[in-house]
Amino acid sequence: MKTEACIFDLDGVIVDTAKYHFRAWKRLAEQLGIEFNERDNERLKGVSRMASLEIILELGRVQLSQGKKEYFATLKNGWYNEYINKMKPDELLPGSIEFINEVKNAGIHVAIGSASKNTPLILERVGIHDMFDAIADGNIVSKAKPDPEVFLKAAEMLNTDPSKCVVFEDAVAGILAARNAGMLCIGIGSSQVLKEADMVVRGLNEMSLEKLKNLEEKIS
Ligand code: BG6
Ligand code: MG
Repeated sequence: MKTEACIFDLDGVIVDTAKYHFRAWKRLAEQLGIEFNERDNERLKGVSRMASLEIILELGRVQLSQGKKEYFATLKNGWYNEYINKMKPDELLPGSIEFINEVKNAGIHVAIGSASKNTPLILERVGIHDMFDAIADGNIVSKAKPDPEVFLKAAEMLNTDPSKCVVFEDAVAGILAARNAGMLCIGIGSSQVLKEADMVVRGLNEMSLEKLKNLEEKIS
């Protein structure tokens, strides 16, 4: 197998936005009288905005009408936007730009595959919007990870066969989505958690073109 495209999840792979999601969800949970801690927040990684709200409501055994759910999801997003609006390029995770540039220089296409509807805003704030050949995000997909839709969309936008794509993901749901898309997947985080990945590194600062080539050889 020869990699023709690398598809990067955004939150937790290129930027660390989990802390901002947590602060905004925590504020909402408090308003709803629901206890919510950092451990609960782990369950929201890679999960869409509405599905995240459902998890929080379930934790507090709170039931709401569809209209109220939409109201609270919008409220949370407003608070979250206050944080991400202030993001600067120094919030890019270590090694991310270097690795993306390394693969680009090797002629490999690069895309974003993220559940977030805030993807364009975040990319703009950290100054990397123009680095990518394609951006597939929460604004153009209807099915959440582990459904492969977002990664298949990215491959289609790049005009690349899914079997020639490698995904970089920090969430279990995202790794399953990559597998469901028939793509190789490199986990970003702990190998104990990301068991389904083809290979795991702690961050893109541990990645290199050489490691990617080694994985290709191992697979074929
Ligand atoms: C994912 C995050 O990338 O995007 C989730 O890991 C988040 O935590 C999801 O809920 C949707 O994000 P947004 O920005 O559309 O609310
Ligand atoms: Mg992620």
